[in-house]
Amino acid sequence: MDFQLDDIQTQIRDMTQDFAAKEIRPVASALDEESRYPEELVKRLAELGLMGMMVPEEWGGTGVDAVSYAIAIENISWGCASTGVIMSVNNSLYCDPVEKFATDEQKKRHLAPFASGAKLGCFGLTEPMSGSDAQHMNTRAEKKGDKYILRGQKNFITNGPQADAIVVFAATDPSKGSRGTTAFVVGRDAKGYVIEPKDKKLGIRGSHSCTITFDECEVSEADRLGDEGQGFKIAMGTLDGGRIGIAAQALGIARAAYEAARDWSLERKAFGVPISQHQAIQFKLADMATQIDAARMLTWRAAYLKDKGVRHSRESAMAKLYASEVAMRVTTEAIQIFGGYGYVTEYPVERHFRDAKICEIYEGTSEIQRIVIAANLLKSGPFGALGY
Ligand code: CAA
Repeated sequence: MDFQLDDIQTQIRDMTQDFAAKEIRPVASALDEESRYPEELVKRLAELGLMGMMVPEEWGGTGVDAVSYAIAIENISWGCASTGVIMSVNNSLYCDPVEKFATDEQKKRHLAPFASGAKLGCFGLTEPMSGSDAQHMNTRAEKKGDKYILRGQKNFITNGPQADAIVVFAATDPSKGSRGTTAFVVGRDAKGYVIEPKDKKLGIRGSHSCTITFDECEVSEADRLGDEGQGFKIAMGTLDGGRIGIAAQALGIARAAYEAARDWSLERKAFGVPISQHQAIQFKLADMATQIDAARMLTWRAAYLKDKGVRHSRESAMAKLYASEVAMRVTTEAIQIFGGYGYVTEYPVERHFRDAKICEIYEGTSEIQRIVIAANLLKSGPFGALGY
């Protein structure tokens, strides 16, 4: 078994770690405090080829593998979790389904400018009355000639306020359940596309989300993604990939908190010695580092399977479930190690703690990940796609 990164993965690791340390980390606290969208950093992500990492070069992307992508998201999120999720949504939730399901004509308009980072994408599945139960959506798309009329609302749309286009899901035939859902790519200039005010959030405050209202919104048939009725499977397959991005984001947050706590423990003295010499602190650091490593292995395994083109629903769900719960545990322990200093905004660990929580919620709550894992275990047996 080879645990060594290859040359490209190593280059991506070093480049993104350096970029995150020099350009992202110094502004992360201000972005959070001011709830400011990192426009300049998003431009830099584009220049560095990080906005469409897995999209082939002919379509404006960088054409690297999903393991490289997971490494990059971890490092960018280590610098700033908000910047990490802006990048993850464009890569995983927008570019990925467009690359898989669009025609070449559609890719010219809806993929190339987004994969290069000239434009930004978002993903509309969640609705005010259907989050976890994604199948039972209220948004409708009614066919009229060569157009569809979309009516409904999608909420908590990450990148919504800035995005140039959305991959959105609507019921074309509600009587068919999940087989009556269809995907569309809709530009922000479309008539009846309304961007509502941005949400006020606990964490990842530099990444903006909002509700998008489709008010008799006209969408050309030429902007339908895939076939009528294929939408739910497009959404689920997309989330299998997206969950790798969120697992990697959680890893970046956890690692930032763990490193801060380790450094603090070497400096801070109690009972005459640095607190790192107390076994109570050593045990915490050992548990934090072990869990982060285990979460990374699960994340890279899911990414490896994605690269092999093998269905990886179970492995992505395991990675996302475990990594996001590790991020909550590690950031909680980091605050404990900092003591009172961990609770004030002068130090970064309270931000890491607030940023970690969303990883247990978006792209499927931890409860939904357990449902996906259990459904796969019961259907296919205890072993995953790799036979163990
Ligand atoms: N890939 C392909 N097809 C899939 C699939 C997958 N991973 N998962 C399910 N399907 C197919 C099934 O095979 C089934 O197909 P048939 O009709 O041919 O049998 C069909 O889809 C319906 O599947 P289920 O019966 O399993 O569907 P369900 O209604 O029981 O729902 C669920 C399953 C796992 C609970 C799903 O609703 C789910 O994942 N919910 C969570 C939604 C979610 O993650 N939302 C996140 C929004 S995006 C976001 O958060 C963005 C952000 O801000 C960053």
